[in-house]
Amino acid sequence: MTAWATATLALYGAGGAAAAASLFRLHRRLELSRAKHRSLAGHSRMARRLAALVPFYEYDEARFFCADGAPLEVAQCRRAGFEQLSALYKTRFAESVRRTAEAAESISDLQFTGAYRVPFQFSRYTRKHLPSGAFMQSSDGVTISDLDGNRFYDLTGAYGVNVLGYGFYKEAIERGAEQVRALGPVLGPYHPVLIENVKLLKEIAGQDEVSFHMSGTEAVMQAVRLARYHTRRSHLVRFCGAYHGWWGDVQPGIGNPLPTHETYTLKEMSADTLRVLRTRHDIACVLVNPLQALHPNAPAPGDSALLDSSRRAHFDKDAYAAWLKELRAVCTEHNIVLIFDEVFVGFRVARGGAQEYFGVRADIVTYGKTLGGGLPIGVVCGRHELMKRFRDDRPADICFARGSFNSHPYVMGAMNEFLHHLQTPAGRAIYHDLDKTWNERTQRLNDALRAEDLPVEVANLSSIWTVCYTRPSRYNWVFQYYLRAEGLALSWVGTGRLIFSLNYTQADFEAVADRFVAAAKAMQRDGWWWNHPELTNKSIKRAILKETIARRLFARGQ
Ligand SMILES: Cc1ncc(COP(=O)(O)O)c(C=O)c1O
Repeated sequence: MTAWATATLALYGAGGAAAAASLFRLHRRLELSRAKHRSLAGHSRMARRLAALVPFYEYDEARFFCADGAPLEVAQCRRAGFEQLSALYKTRFAESVRRTAEAAESISDLQFTGAYRVPFQFSRYTRKHLPSGAFMQSSDGVTISDLDGNRFYDLTGAYGVNVLGYGFYKEAIERGAEQVRALGPVLGPYHPVLIENVKLLKEIAGQDEVSFHMSGTEAVMQAVRLARYHTRRSHLVRFCGAYHGWWGDVQPGIGNPLPTHETYTLKEMSADTLRVLRTRHDIACVLVNPLQALHPNAPAPGDSALLDSSRRAHFDKDAYAAWLKELRAVCTEHNIVLIFDEVFVGFRVARGGAQEYFGVRADIVTYGKTLGGGLPIGVVCGRHELMKRFRDDRPADICFARGSFNSHPYVMGAMNEFLHHLQTPAGRAIYHDLDKTWNERTQRLNDALRAEDLPVEVANLSSIWTVCYTRPSRYNWVFQYYLRAEGLALSWVGTGRLIFSLNYTQADFEAVADRFVAAAKAMQRDGWWWNHPELTNKSIKRAILKETIARRLFARGQ
């Protein structure tokens, strides 16, 4: 063979290899694309880009009441109801509202939550006429009271922190403080109460080691950092819609000004995702927020996203447990660290949290919220080899994690009270028949709603609820205001998340259910759920898209 022929052959060979490599990369890329959920929440970059294009517009007073094309008499009926509600809010909540308006000028968080309670087209007018108070002055049993002395049944659950009832946490904080008072806020050295906390946590989590942080967000950061350190791989996998705190890497979509480069957002409960986990070599860990079992692949529901009635939720415990088992097996096979983020569900669904509840053991578990006994906390529990922050053979290659307030004695004291309580017969008893109780209560409310032909239903994962709407409507977001008027306290995400503490008695629950039905009846009476056969979720979405495009074109021309 001539030198020329050899060179040509080599060139062909190299070209072929390059083509094969490109094809292989393309194949991997396609596999990854297939494992993305088709919704915008599944496409973080695109969601961020599109979000940046959405122009502000709002409805004027006339359109506010008939954005769905309702006839004049329905719009008038809505307006009358709205004015009545407005008068009630402005008198009944006067002091709470006055103080909130004053404070909001200087508190950015209040401005944000105030603006994002309802879809933005309705927001300003609603804020003006149905102002929400952000202050409360006391709690008692399952109720909280505002600055005007109104008592509300609490469905906020203090962001999920309140599992055992506010009374319990008040005492835990006091008794915990008593335990550590002699040391006070000395940071760095530990108070000995920590030793027992670690022992109990290891036993509950079924893990070897524990580290303490200040928030759930930080616990998740540390869990992911450890996974990257020990696997020497770069990427984390989170599932579409799942919340894991506000750290950039776990929030790659809307809300984070920067794109993330080491996060894959994949479909939950999907064979496509398992395929990606099997074939890619850059995945350090998979983060699971078991709360997603209530609405897999959908973001945490908030009323500002209630543009129509397409919010769905349904919890299938067996299906989710089966998914977690599959995920566990694939992670084990491919040395991917499986992290359960139990910041929300830990200690709420079972004493041993989601691991016990679904019967699957994770490699690392994060806890937070209620575990602090009412004080701020984030905890990581994991296997010894994954928790280690240095290498014996590479002394300079460390995985750094410190925090001034980690292991704060007062937090450790309150946590100790919480963990101790779980050891007592009363503490264990709260988990008996827990799902049965909450499933029956859910059913009881749904039956009552159905009996009255109301287009509302609730779905639950144990004591965590979300409200769904069964008839296409643009006005479901109004419901939160009727609920508050009936004396039910909701968090700023409105009917997206109702969280019950486990000390709700049947009588307490019946009172909530009656008020819930009364609120829905009032809303129905005031015409908000008027519907026309042509009004579908699809047609609503289409109309909003048209408005948005028109606004954008119009704004450009200005
Ligand atoms: C599953 C999950 N992970 C992490 C966090 C963040 O916790 P924190 O608000 O304490 O930072 C939350 C908060 O809601 C959560 O629900």
